[in-house]
Amino acid sequence: MLFTDRDVQQVSNDIMNMLHEDEIELVNELHDALIARDIEKTDELFTKLMAEMEVHFKTEEDMMADASYPNLGMHKSDHDFMREKLQKFHKRWEVLKSPNELKGFFDKEFKKWYTGHITKWDSQTAIALD
Ligand SMILES: [Fe+2]
Ligand SMILES: [Fe+2]
Repeated sequence: MLFTDRDVQQVSNDIMNMLHEDEIELVNELHDALIARDIEKTDELFTKLMAEMEVHFKTEEDMMADASYPNLGMHKSDHDFMREKLQKFHKRWEVLKSPNELKGFFDKEFKKWYTGHITKWDSQTAIALD
């Protein structure tokens, strides 16, 4: 398990919390598959996570645009940073199928980025959207 319930901050917007909760479940499943070195399951769950992350980011960006949120550009550029990372690691996974490398990314980079992004960006955006 990569995330426990306490790792991820609740924000003041239910849609955003729902997006995060569903995604955390998926990330934990993927992390379990990586520990088990289950290549097939990792293939399936990583592809699913890529789609889920895009829905998550796009939904937030659409909500910010609808509300004319002034910091949309900065919030989106932090999404874009992780979009690029995920694409890079997905491509590497397709070639290398290395559970060690991918697990290292989730342990060392993804978890820190995810919790930090929600604390810094999502929490203040959620307040502005209310
Ligand atoms: Fe978010
Ligand atoms: Fe966000």
